[in-house]
Amino acid sequence: MERRNFLKGLGAGLAGVSAAGIVGPLAKSAGAADKQEIGECKSVTVHCISETSWFDSPQMLKDIKDAGGAMVSMYDIPWTQSNIGGYVALIELEQLDGSKKLIQLDSGWNQDWTDYVMEKSGLGKQLEEKKIDLLVISHEHEDHYWGLKSTLKRYPGIPMVVPNTFYPEGKALLQGKYKNDYSHVENDVPHTGELIELGPDDLYNPYPGMAIKMFDIPIMLKCRGEQNLFFKVKDKGVVAVTGCCHQGVLTMMHWARRNIAGFKPYGLYGGLHIAAFENWDPKFDDIIRGVKQMGLEKIGCNHCTGWIWASKARAQGLPIVLGTEKYRDYEKLPTTGQGAPENVYLRNGDVIMFG
Ligand SMILES: [Fe+2]
Ligand SMILES: [Fe+2]
Repeated sequence: MERRNFLKGLGAGLAGVSAAGIVGPLAKSAGAADKQEIGECKSVTVHCISETSWFDSPQMLKDIKDAGGAMVSMYDIPWTQSNIGGYVALIELEQLDGSKKLIQLDSGWNQDWTDYVMEKSGLGKQLEEKKIDLLVISHEHEDHYWGLKSTLKRYPGIPMVVPNTFYPEGKALLQGKYKNDYSHVENDVPHTGELIELGPDDLYNPYPGMAIKMFDIPIMLKCRGEQNLFFKVKDKGVVAVTGCCHQGVLTMMHWARRNIAGFKPYGLYGGLHIAAFENWDPKFDDIIRGVKQMGLEKIGCNHCTGWIWASKARAQGLPIVLGTEKYRDYEKLPTTGQGAPENVYLRNGDVIMFG
């Protein structure tokens, strides 16, 4: 990875200054001159390694409620181990010259489950062979990060990009120095590779057509900051790939519209954290309207989006891609969505291509 692709903490007056592959500080202003050039790629393919962070939503909610609610730190909750899985995606970035980069998004939660999905998908072998170019951790949340050992024991030197807002526990986990028997999280394999920590004023552009943006926001269960990936696909437009999207899908896409040069809405993949526990709130209708107005062509959603939101959004005309039945081959199945007339999630084993 090349350092030159990353400029950190420049003054606002330098917004828009760019050199080969460099993207400077982020535009707080909306002027066209401040937009950032991130380059272009040929296509982006996302493999859903696991979107089942938990198998039963009521049990997940009960764990949180019993521990004192959403303000309690995730490191102080005795999570029901039989209910947890984890979130991992593998992104294939095809560059304009036909070469490929492989980017792993997030590192799962339960280690047995994370090991299982890594072996089943082939990602485990790719890690052992050092074929994964970059690991991006979207945020510190248990289901996206705590399974880190499954990645590091296969490839401790993997280059990593994390938000710069991790709590001390998250930093210790990265250093292989954390064990917490109460909430069942541990890692004794230190990360030895390059580590890039993104702040809210950074935009990291590791490869042409790909950028990572960190949103410095407070998140439930004492987590802070989430970053997502943007890809600019030639002749198509911008694709956003997310972990949980706690920053909000509208915030994320409008940020891209205001800040990425040549923005054209195209696609979306990941957890959208709307009706995460299958509750409904009238504001979720607004999100359907807001996303509709953006004019995206292809949406693959799962994880904390809320099955109920995805179903309603699809019924109202959003281009939500249906998943296959491949997830039924996995050793554990989620309770959400069973018996529904159509599969509105891209689930474990599913693949979506943008390009
Ligand atoms: Fe999540
Ligand atoms: Fe999350």
